[in-house]
Amino acid sequence: LSEGGFFQHDFNGLTFVLGSLALGQQYSSLGSQPILCGSIPGLVPKQLRFCRNYIEIMPSVAEGVKLGIQECQHQFRGRRWNCTTIKDNLAIFGPVLDKGTHSIGFMSSTRESAFVHAIASAGVAFAVTRSCAEGTSTMCGCDSHHKGPPGEGWKWGGCSEDAEFGVLVSREFADARENRPDARSAMNRHNNEAGRTTILDHMHLRCKCHGLSGSCEVKTCWWAQQDFRTLGNYLKDKYDSASEMIVEKHRESRGWVETLRVKYNFFKHPTERDLVYYEGSPNFCEPNSETGSFGTRDRVCNVSSHGIEGCDLLCCGRGHNTRTEKRKEKCHCIFHWCCYVSCQECVRVYDVHTCK
Ligand SMILES: *[C@@H]1O[C@H](CO)[C@@H](O)[C@H](O)[C@H]1NC(C)=O
Ligand SMILES: *[C@@H]1O[C@H](CO)[C@@H](O)[C@H](O)[C@H]1NC(C)=O
Repeated sequence: LSEGGFFQHDFNGLTFVLGSLALGQQYSSLGSQPILCGSIPGLVPKQLRFCRNYIEIMPSVAEGVKLGIQECQHQFRGRRWNCTTIKDNLAIFGPVLDKGTHSIGFMSSTRESAFVHAIASAGVAFAVTRSCAEGTSTMCGCDSHHKGPPGEGWKWGGCSEDAEFGVLVSREFADARENRPDARSAMNRHNNEAGRTTILDHMHLRCKCHGLSGSCEVKTCWWAQQDFRTLGNYLKDKYDSASEMIVEKHRESRGWVETLRVKYNFFKHPTERDLVYYEGSPNFCEPNSETGSFGTRDRVCNVSSHGIEGCDLLCCGRGHNTRTEKRKEKCHCIFHWCCYVSCQECVRVYDVHTCK
């Protein structure tokens, strides 16, 4: 891994993401060869033990992190901070989530960091749960606890997804590093858990009809996870309404412990389902390697939108450049009886606006 140096950096909270991404890459490049837990950089001893004990499900852990990151990039597309990674697909969030040293320690306790932790731990729980239900591991399978009596007009059937197991795996693996008595650890644990709770809260019955020509004489149902896009939308709302906290220090028998308290008492207190943060975000207008901001120069903006993806806001008032771009498209399509469609190729000209 050429990124080795990067991975070996102390990422505090997010090593689980980096570690399992490294794993993902390794896994895909090695194909069917076994994963070597010892060669995944940045795992703490507890994660290493976990990897060795649960080697069969490690590919879905890696898959889950990737899923979370892709969803993050979807939710934040077109915004100043767009969940970009430093090296194309290899999702390294860069200093946005890295404290490294306490002197930088800024971006790591922001809303953005809260969202990434929540969506990545949700992704891990989701992917592990899904792959268990698909029977890819001997360690897990369908959920047999939640059955109970059949409902009116339906009976249990199919494979209920065992989200409790996925959540457990995510908790064990993702939270393995978050055991320090500091505020950052407390924040990461809280947001990781909020992401996982989202999975559990959205479990629902999914049913299938059987019978002559879909008459639904017999209906079988099973517990299923909500689709990940819906969970992403939900967590994005949680990002928008995240609670700002302040850090409090207490003296306990084990020493000084930092905890978080809501900053503005007149706002509702965050529940376990809410995201929390305690440091403000930069505006992401200018590049700044310390805060992990790429700046918005050369970003494509929407000239007719007054929203955050509009040129005014995205370009931070610096203005934008406009160029034209020609794209080939299919046009004048004709349907021929029977049955094919023939098209011509036309060149269309588009205006593309990018930030100055
Ligand atoms: C996200 O932002 C980066 C850095 O400004 C930019 O290079 C990239 O094209 C953006 N991605 C999308 C999908 O807009
Ligand atoms: C740009 O913004 C306008 C107004 O919000 C919207 O209707 C249009 O679909 C957007 N264009 C693109 C390419 O996203």
